[in-house]
Amino acid sequence: MTQKEYINSNQERFLNELLDWLRIPSISADPAYKNDVHKAAEFVAEKLRIAGADNVSLEQTAGYPIVYGEKMVDPSKPTVLVYGHYDVQPSVPDELWITPAFEPSIRDGNIYARGACDDKGQAFMHVKAFETMMATDTLACNVKFMIEGEEEVGSTNLGIYVGANKEKLAADVVLISDTGMIANNIPSIDTGLRGLSYVEVEVTGPNIDLHSGTYGGAVANPINVLCDMISSLHDENRHITIPGFYDNVEEVSPEDRAEMAKTPFSLDEYKSELDVNDVMGEAGYSTIERTGIRPTLDVNGIWGGYIGEGAKTVLPSKAYAKISMRLVPNQKSQDISDLFKNHFESIAPKSVKVKVSLHHGGEAAVTPTDSKAYRAASKAMEATFGKKPIPTRGGGSIPIVALFEEVLGLKTVLMGFGLDSDAIHSPNEKYGIFNFNKGIETIPYFFKYFAE
Ligand code: BES
Ligand code: MN
Ligand code: MN
Repeated sequence: MTQKEYINSNQERFLNELLDWLRIPSISADPAYKNDVHKAAEFVAEKLRIAGADNVSLEQTAGYPIVYGEKMVDPSKPTVLVYGHYDVQPSVPDELWITPAFEPSIRDGNIYARGACDDKGQAFMHVKAFETMMATDTLACNVKFMIEGEEEVGSTNLGIYVGANKEKLAADVVLISDTGMIANNIPSIDTGLRGLSYVEVEVTGPNIDLHSGTYGGAVANPINVLCDMISSLHDENRHITIPGFYDNVEEVSPEDRAEMAKTPFSLDEYKSELDVNDVMGEAGYSTIERTGIRPTLDVNGIWGGYIGEGAKTVLPSKAYAKISMRLVPNQKSQDISDLFKNHFESIAPKSVKVKVSLHHGGEAAVTPTDSKAYRAASKAMEATFGKKPIPTRGGGSIPIVALFEEVLGLKTVLMGFGLDSDAIHSPNEKYGIFNFNKGIETIPYFFKYFAE
């Protein structure tokens, strides 16, 4: 049987297996789902075993296990380390889902479920592509799988595992499908990921909530103050005002910017898809540049005071915000977090107290386009899409990618099949069945071309 015949005759089963995996709510951020996260690990380990992987194991960490499996066909062939993650983001706000997040439903050729695209749907393509290559006796490279359960919470334990298992993980390249492409008829390959600094701030005014009539106007309102402080973090050009923030930012050459400007992109479609009348961002940069090559600062959540029914007059004691900064090459996550903390503390008026705590972070990564692995991915996508993929810079973060390079000396290829419209991390996350099948079809070509 050829690969194509095998895939065609098993397509329905592949999809149904994915739906079973998606039914397991493997939310790594919420300890209430601990058992389910473990179940999701066992599920994919079992699928790897059935497909023919050797030495499949749940590698224990201080957190969730790393699913490992391998097939070494020939020591003279290159080795591909496939990385993915089986954990997913929380599904809240659940009331905005048309069908429940963990009851996968198919509409208009799309699979709707939390994790459908990020990353169970994409990681599962690799498992099924591997099964296909094994069943048709066409596996052209050695392969090692590493599917973790803590990507959405920062991959701290994976970082430790990688450092302690350098020999076991020795390979020639890392292959990841956990990013997107421009459109189903415009294939692309991400050549960069942004880094991340994530902080939480607490602003305290008076020691208890006060009557806003008795005290309002005379005592600092921490929510008012927090809003002032946050708004001072950008200037009128939407530059970030933290001193030193841009010091190490990699300036992209005019040639590379001209190249980026050729990326197919319609600002009108972008705006209408998001239902916004205009975009907003750093002066002097296009939308693609703002998400691809420039650092940003965003409030992810802000709370405090009275948010119940009706009106309660109160001058709150505390206000909070969670703030993330997306970083570009050469900005160090720890340094940026420290800069933020110092700056935020320094701009606080004497009338409040400020506490800044640091959450997980990660470094940016750029992946080369002049490598054998990139060319193999490019040729693979060209073989199945009929078009050469365009290199693009992705805006998201996969912190472990920088560590693969630093610790294992490995470059990564980001051969993702998602779309921006797949609503990852949002309600009604989806993944196209077209994309799922395309991935399964394309991955074996990567192995074939990388082995040549
Ligand atoms: N798969 C995403 C990263 C991504 C999405 C890259 C879209 C490129 C395009 C990943 O699962 C993710 O969500 N990462 C987090 C970082 C993590 C430390 C929580 C992110 O980017 O917010
Ligand atoms: Mn992901
Ligand atoms: Mn994610």
